Amino acid sequence: MVTHHVRVLDPDELRAAHTLFAAALHLDPLDDESWERRRHSYLPGRTLGVSDSSGLIGTTMSFPARTAVPGAALPTAAVSRVGVRADRTRRGVLSELMRAQFDDAAVRGEVIATLRASEARIYGRFGYGVATRAREVTVGTRGGLRDGAPPGGTVRMLPAGDIVAATAAVHARIALDRVGGMTRHEQLWDQGIGNRVRRHEHVVAAVHTGPGGDDGYAVAVPGGSDGGFADRALRVTDLHAAGVDATAGLWRFLLGLDLIGRVEGWMRPVDEPLELLLADPRDCRVTGETDETWLRILDVPAALAARSWGPGRPVRIAVRDPLRPRNEGVYRIGEGRAEPVDAAPELQCDVAALAMAYLGDRAPSQLAATGWWHVHDPAAVARADAVFATATRPWCGTFF
Ligand SMILES: CC(C)(COP(=O)(O)OP(=O)(O)OC[C@H]1O[C@@H](n2cnc3c(N)ncnc32)[C@H](O)[C@@H]1OP(=O)(O)O)[C@@H](O)C(=O)NCCC(=O)NCCS
Repeated sequence: MVTHHVRVLDPDELRAAHTLFAAALHLDPLDDESWERRRHSYLPGRTLGVSDSSGLIGTTMSFPARTAVPGAALPTAAVSRVGVRADRTRRGVLSELMRAQFDDAAVRGEVIATLRASEARIYGRFGYGVATRAREVTVGTRGGLRDGAPPGGTVRMLPAGDIVAATAAVHARIALDRVGGMTRHEQLWDQGIGNRVRRHEHVVAAVHTGPGGDDGYAVAVPGGSDGGFADRALRVTDLHAAGVDATAGLWRFLLGLDLIGRVEGWMRPVDEPLELLLADPRDCRVTGETDETWLRILDVPAALAARSWGPGRPVRIAVRDPLRPRNEGVYRIGEGRAEPVDAAPELQCDVAALAMAYLGDRAPSQLAATGWWHVHDPAAVARADAVFATATRPWCGTFF
């Protein structure tokens, strides 16, 4: 296979990179005005490309973020806009881009990388594993919340001009409270809800305030209608809440809006307790569940050392990582710490399967039973479950 030379793209090549990526996803190129805004989301030095005699044939970019893991927030490369020109696929271009991107992120001190995958069969080979999942729900508005559901605090609607600043402030305050949550840079707000506000679209946005201050927000846009004005759908595009009170307060507000027949939630946490809050649990229909973020642990010793661990006796796990061999070794995890040891492993996994357990999405016993983890000592599986266990399911909630 030909070796492809990966290089950092110059600022004047970024539009071509964006167009290449968009075409790979069968999206339209940006017009001049949209590009003028979007180009700011390409941070200096973070876009990689491969060219041949015909021009640019592949690209990827990343931006820095912090991701909440149990007990810590880790510097993260948030990877996006991955594309290879359709007439140059399956020749190893992405493979070279991925390798170079890992090296680049590692030099920047980024301990993990995260992305959302267009297809589930692309990234596992590079050591990415599904680390958070999300569900889609459709909630009928007829029954509302049950008596006895937490009343929640106060909800205030936001005028269009305040939506970005107010929701961004609440997000910055609470996003890292939940494992899997990540920080958002200004451009993500500008491209997301900022875009809708600029286009003067109707947006329903509200902030929830609890005893400790603003602790949640919801942003939603109207969808279609099955029955004229009185039965509109409302599509929640972004809803973050610091706890069950704020969750209840915000959903009570959304479900109580006049003329709305159903509220559709996209990429919601799998453990969002809607069925427990509703008067009729069947008002909540789960219409899909999917992988949300994929995690690549770039620096295994650092990632393991940073995470807090559950109680119980330690377990020894061998990690394989052919792409980044310095991660390979046996790690002793438990009693509040993780460290490399010179001892025989009880369990073994590759770095992608470690990522699947790292934030608590999958229990080691599930991964062992399905062949993702190899078991040398069956007694170690229950200990691994105990040390990896987390109280809530990880969830990111940011589209990038
Ligand atoms: C996905 C994409 C980036 C892959 O690029 P590529 O240069 O063809 O990838 P590579 O040649 O380096 O592939 C490496 C390996 O992954 C496999 N692979 C790559 N894309 C795959 C896919 N979509 N499905 C299954 N396998 C895939 C290749 O077959 C190859 O396997 P091999 O090593 O066993 O031969 C490219 O097909 C693309 O741009 N797709 C459309 C846009 C897109 O989905 N981008 C990702 C956004 S998250």
